[in-house]
Amino acid sequence: MPNPSLLILPGDGIGPEVMTEVRRVVSWFGDKRGLNFDVSEDLVGGAAYDAHGTPLTDATMDKAQAVDAVLLGAVGGTKYDNLDFSVKPERGLLRLRKEMDLFANLRPAQCFDALADFSSLKRDVVAGLDIMIVRELTSGIYFGEPRGIIEEGNERVGINTQRYSESEIERVARSAFELAMKRDKKLCSMEKANVMESGVLWREVVTRVGADYPEVELSHMYADAGAMQLTRWPKQFDVIVTDNLFGDMLSDLAAMLTGSLGMLPSASLGLPMANGRPKALYEPVHGSAPDIAGQGKANPIACILSFAMALRYSFDQGEEAARLERAVEAVLAQGLRTPDLLGEENRAPVTTSEMGDAILAALD
Ligand code: NAI
Ligand code: MG
Repeated sequence: MPNPSLLILPGDGIGPEVMTEVRRVVSWFGDKRGLNFDVSEDLVGGAAYDAHGTPLTDATMDKAQAVDAVLLGAVGGTKYDNLDFSVKPERGLLRLRKEMDLFANLRPAQCFDALADFSSLKRDVVAGLDIMIVRELTSGIYFGEPRGIIEEGNERVGINTQRYSESEIERVARSAFELAMKRDKKLCSMEKANVMESGVLWREVVTRVGADYPEVELSHMYADAGAMQLTRWPKQFDVIVTDNLFGDMLSDLAAMLTGSLGMLPSASLGLPMANGRPKALYEPVHGSAPDIAGQGKANPIACILSFAMALRYSFDQGEEAARLERAVEAVLAQGLRTPDLLGEENRAPVTTSEMGDAILAALD
């Protein structure tokens, strides 16, 4: 069997800095665990614009469609602020998401014990937390028609439409059930079936898909109650699946239960390819951080944990993913902190590459 393929798109700002550390981690798994990837690398965002006059060339798009997983750093930067909208760095990322049809956005909220005091919630509420929010990303109220601002009588009316087809609900539900099978086999679906017809249909379709996954314990919750439960006792959840709008809010809420932007990975998944793997793009939640770029201050952990997600969700290497997460945990427990993780603490920060060194040492 050929090695699985990985396309690395470092992007702009701190993207290339954190990706340097990820590349070392990828090589480690090849050298030490016999997990070899065919790694190729290309430009995206401002870097692609500088080289080719477009934030994503057709050739790069074709490569992204062909590989088993794409790993992206970040795009954007003040240098590109005045570019025409059609060639802005962010458009490169949007094109990837759209053409790969990445409809399931996975945002974990995972609390590393050493950072539990960093949370705005009490330590025992978040310590050991490991949940996953699956947000539908390509439909719902952000895309539904009709939309716009219209004149009605003597005033204006703003309109957006929540719209979900059965097939759109079904495919994201299926992704969520597949994830639940790789985790604790517990799925909670959130909508507002009490006041929205799209929510009624959502609940019905998720329940129907659930019949194919009898091992997964399925529950339903209204999204507002879900927000309360997430802050009250988040450990009651494992995987949560919800629509685009509720997912936007709930995933941000859940992410901040555990702390810094520099720690947050994500994945966006599409339909299964011929080899059974889903189309997949893995990236940290953070942007290109122009304020700290080029200074060795970036925390590489969000991007490294994005690779851990790739191991688990694209390559069925859950144990190797856990190995990498344990290495991150160990390094944090040793007290190593990039500046974003220091808060009020009075200790010397480590650089991006020192954090990478420590994670490799912990892996060894
Ligand atoms: P940002 O996420 O780049 O930075 C927000 C704050 O968090 C900054 O103070 C930054 O220094 C800090 N930060 C972010 N990642 C960090 C890391 N790994 N380690 C330590 N500190 C970190 O968001 P911002 O400033 O709103 O946007 C900057 C640029 O990034 C813009 O051009 C924006 O469009 C782009 N962006 C790109 C995204 C992507 O590629 N997915 C997502 C968000 C923003
Ligand atoms: Mg948001």
